[in-house]
Amino acid sequence: MKKGIFSKMVAAYTIIVALSFFIIATVLSLWFQNYYFQQRKNQLESNAELIKPYAVDKFVTQDNNVTERDWEKILYILSTSSNADIWITDNNGFINQVSNKNHQQLIGKQVFQRDLDTLRLKQSVEIKGTYENILSTPSHIYIMPVIEDRSFIGSVIMITPLSQLKEPLKNVYRIIWFSALLAIIVSSIIIYHFSEKIILAPLAKINSVAKKISKGEVEKRVEIISNDEIGELAESFNSMADNIEKVENHRREFISNVSHEIRSPITSIKGFIGGILDGVIPKEKENYYLSIAYEEIQRLTRLVNDLLDLSAIEAGQFRLRIEELDINELIRITVIKFETKIKAKGLKVDVCFAEDNLYIAGDRDRLVQVLTNLVDNAIKYVSEGGNIKICTKTKGDKVLVTVFNDGPLISKEDISHIWDRFYKADKSRTAKMSTGLGLPIARNILTQLGEDIWVENREGEGVIFTFTLKRVK
Ligand SMILES: Nc1ncnc2c1ncn2[C@@H]1O[C@H](COP(=O)(O)OP(=O)(O)O)[C@@H](O)[C@H]1O
Ligand SMILES: [Mg+2]
Repeated sequence: MKKGIFSKMVAAYTIIVALSFFIIATVLSLWFQNYYFQQRKNQLESNAELIKPYAVDKFVTQDNNVTERDWEKILYILSTSSNADIWITDNNGFINQVSNKNHQQLIGKQVFQRDLDTLRLKQSVEIKGTYENILSTPSHIYIMPVIEDRSFIGSVIMITPLSQLKEPLKNVYRIIWFSALLAIIVSSIIIYHFSEKIILAPLAKINSVAKKISKGEVEKRVEIISNDEIGELAESFNSMADNIEKVENHRREFISNVSHEIRSPITSIKGFIGGILDGVIPKEKENYYLSIAYEEIQRLTRLVNDLLDLSAIEAGQFRLRIEELDINELIRITVIKFETKIKAKGLKVDVCFAEDNLYIAGDRDRLVQVLTNLVDNAIKYVSEGGNIKICTKTKGDKVLVTVFNDGPLISKEDISHIWDRFYKADKSRTAKMSTGLGLPIARNILTQLGEDIWVENREGEGVIFTFTLKRVK
């Protein structure tokens, strides 16, 4: 992960920042270069302006008030102050004066004929580079026409080697590009640190907790308090961890319950059979103890069957075979199955059906299982010689099936737990015949059918379980 998102992100940001600074630095350099040459031009222009009266004197009035010495002086001053070589030409481009002694041999030569037309239009000329065979070093050449009485009388040519001009420019460029580079480096460092703090560190935290949870430390949580998407992710992650912990706790509890339920019958079976084998139990009592062991084995079988059913239902492993069934018929069959138990307890069982045949959609075997569990409970928890009443009612497109028994009510603490696996209200009384799995199985089956089941205490009467079914006509 470290090499993935993170480096990509930092690289992307750095490239963006670098590009921005590159553009800024380029624009700034170009702008400054323009500004610099503009300034230079202005300076040269005002210098040339100073020469004008002398040039007029020389080429127009020809008073010769100005001596060669004066020319030398003025050209010397202007050329040093503007850092340029200065040539003066007449209106045909013949050089008349030069500021630099080295250019003496050019006096009397005609230069820049090409540009004379422009100068005659009273426009100045600017050239950057070499010029024919007169100037071999690349130079900045600025030519100003001297205008007197609207006529072109001569020109002032100012020449500076480009290398000399560019020296200060280079310094400025260096400063601009160095600042840009510095800014890029500093911003990359800042970007790196921020991404590390905002994204990488929290992700690493979540990752390490996820690894711990996957190794079984389900109580571990991420501690990230931030208001952004990462905070949200941490929150979702924690709520997922809560669920995993809950499931894990359920699983542990379930296993301990199962082990507990299985251990007691196995212990007693072991005791009885061991006693018989050791001869501790007398021969004439053997049958009695074997029958108790047999009962325990039956209980174990029931428990294992219930567990298998429950896990199959919860895993959604068995497919429901939905068909059209007469619920009244299923109730009759179920009641008949319990005939012996009913007689043994001296119970009175009533059925009341809404119609003779009440057709519903459901899975036959599963609905028999639900009814069996409810009727079995009613018989188990009704008092001796009590009443049981099983009824069907229609309500819209639903059929309500109720199983009522009189006798003790379910206490307030118990009533919310009776749907939990292995929950038995009266542990001592029902321990022998209970698994605490009947109601959870019934509810699971009905949930899979998309139906509902609930229980009510009828004050002074008894307990009534109700479940719904889909009616078909
Ligand atoms: N008709 C009933 N009257 C009173 N209590 C009941 C009734 N049906 C269920 N219960 C309570 O609900 C608990 C759970 O029922 P169930 O899941 O069927 O397990 P089991 O029947 O094996 O005890 C029972 O132990 C009992 O305390
Ligand atoms: Mg039961």
